[in-house]
Amino acid sequence: MHTTPETMTAIGIATPGAPEVLKPETRPVPKPGPGEVLVAVAAAGVNRPDVLQRKGNYAPPPGTSDIPGLEIAGTVVALGEGATRFAIGQQVCGLVAGGGYAEYAAVHESNALPAPKGLSLAEAGAIPETYFTVWTNVFQRGRLAAGESFLVHGGSSGIGTTAIQLAKAFGATVLATAGSDDKCRACRDLGADHAINYRTEDFVAAARAATEGRGVNLILDMVGGDYIDRNYEAAADQGRIVQIAFLNGPKASVNFSRLMLKRLTHTGSTLRPRTVAEKAAIAAELHEKVWPLLEAGRCKPLVHATFPLAQASEAHRLMESSAHIGKIVLTV
Ligand SMILES: NC(=O)c1ccc[n+]([C@@H]2O[C@H](COP(=O)([O-])OP(=O)(O)OC[C@H]3O[C@@H](n4cnc5c(N)ncnc54)[C@H](OP(=O)(O)O)[C@@H]3O)[C@@H](O)[C@H]2O)c1
Repeated sequence: MHTTPETMTAIGIATPGAPEVLKPETRPVPKPGPGEVLVAVAAAGVNRPDVLQRKGNYAPPPGTSDIPGLEIAGTVVALGEGATRFAIGQQVCGLVAGGGYAEYAAVHESNALPAPKGLSLAEAGAIPETYFTVWTNVFQRGRLAAGESFLVHGGSSGIGTTAIQLAKAFGATVLATAGSDDKCRACRDLGADHAINYRTEDFVAAARAATEGRGVNLILDMVGGDYIDRNYEAAADQGRIVQIAFLNGPKASVNFSRLMLKRLTHTGSTLRPRTVAEKAAIAAELHEKVWPLLEAGRCKPLVHATFPLAQASEAHRLMESSAHIGKIVLTV
């Protein structure tokens, strides 16, 4: 029988700044609200948005914990009022709007999923943020269909490594860009048909060559800046471009005539501020369509490194070095 303590260790952001502002603190253990489960966290994934939050550029949505961390995996230890989906003792992973870098986290049961069979909890904790993001942007907004071509920028990122595997599993021809030959090799190992080292090759020319001049049907972009204009160039007629971040900035000089002449669709979204109900709808589709693939070993989170919770600052240093391929995970 698990006895939940009153207090826990969590990682706080002492003041916005460099990785060393992430420090272990003693905080109250959250109380699960209606429909929520309390999870004894075994693993918390690290995501690039956490870096933005640490720097003071991505405030948690109103009412959300100021503790960073958007995804967790662990064991259910208490049930909030009306929570019926999981039993105490069950291993789950879940999407949280904050509070993941901690020994305990509360998650709405509809935003949690059973930890996939055959994966470790460290792997399960690396799933929710990228799988929810890729599912909603590539398959729901981007409507990727079997037989289409798909280009993901940042192919070696947590998001990119997930997008490559899922797009491939659902029958697309996959192109990925990455910043080194090693990263390109990793993208190919994950199933990318073409990996483009953007430091040595022009991705527009490479994308056109890989599609016999037609251009790509869907682009998932986290770079922005001058990629916006170049994505319009690399896209096929009626191509779609889904924007999930602007690592190179949100402003650009763009030739919009291509948007009109090729009948392109350019859209985007963020996951974190969306409602519990919207996230639950994504979770339900993932459970039905992607969990069987995870449990059959047809896709898998690529864990590059794990760090003990207290070393969250080291994990952020690694992420900011961009030396990693795949996910970085904190273990508790
Ligand atoms: N909209 C949403 O809902 C949502 C949700 C989650 C994440 N995101 C965004 O998706 C992106 C990927 O997240 P992640 O956690 O997967 O990140 P990550 O693992 O840290 O990967 C980011 C990678 O992007 C590449 N990159 C390209 N241009 C870059 C630049 N100007 N600055 C830094 N890196 C650059 C780097 O690899 P190279 O060596 O190839 O350059 C880097 O390793 C982030 O921008 C994040 O904010 C959006």
